Amino acid sequence: MTQEHIHPIFDQLLQTKTKETLLKQRGKVIWLIGLSGSGKSTIAQHLEAKLYDKGFLTQVLDGDNIRSGLNNNLSFTNEDRLENIRRISEVAKLFTNCGVVTLASFITPTEAIRKMAKEIIGEDKYIEVFVNTSLEVCENRDVKGLYDKARQGIIKNFTGIDAVFETPQNPDIIISTEKLSIEKSVEELYDFIIEKISY
Ligand code: ADX
Repeated sequence: MTQEHIHPIFDQLLQTKTKETLLKQRGKVIWLIGLSGSGKSTIAQHLEAKLYDKGFLTQVLDGDNIRSGLNNNLSFTNEDRLENIRRISEVAKLFTNCGVVTLASFITPTEAIRKMAKEIIGEDKYIEVFVNTSLEVCENRDVKGLYDKARQGIIKNFTGIDAVFETPQNPDIIISTEKLSIEKSVEELYDFIIEKISY
């Protein structure tokens, strides 16, 4: 694809710092990684509510608002998962550059995909959170009934069943959901990020 007729005007736009000053907060991406059913989106939702109460402007990105819209043409092959995360990272970067605290909750199954997300967003803006819930627990919960379908072979390429999930090697924080209530999980994450997003 040719880029030759594209003329970026980034240098003419208002700087992130200016917008962060307006919002009195720092734009960061809080990237929640974990298996389907691990609790990523629930944690993101509760964290967003808590941050709102404290006066922070946030945006949640998850399967519900991304795979049904922007990425509704993508499947769950490795290639499409990479493209899924590439587009989400670019969107997350726009929000963060606007000073918004962005909560991204996606399986993000491999280290290579995570590395790409971190590179696109920028190391200083990316906070990696591993929502550590075992496959056994996720499968027992099976909130959406998808593990059952994957075991029956009705769904192919299902993460943890017949598609890879690599344990994150260098997350900034691990939330051990099996030992903590949802409230405690959110509190732990909140305590970890609050200084990083405060102005
Ligand atoms: S990712 O691997 O590309 O990061 P993403 O987080 O967007 O995945 O989507 C995962 C959600 O899609 C799951 O929580 C589940 O509801 C649904 N889903 C449907 N098919 C699959 C599949 N084959 N593997 C994993 N999740 C799937």
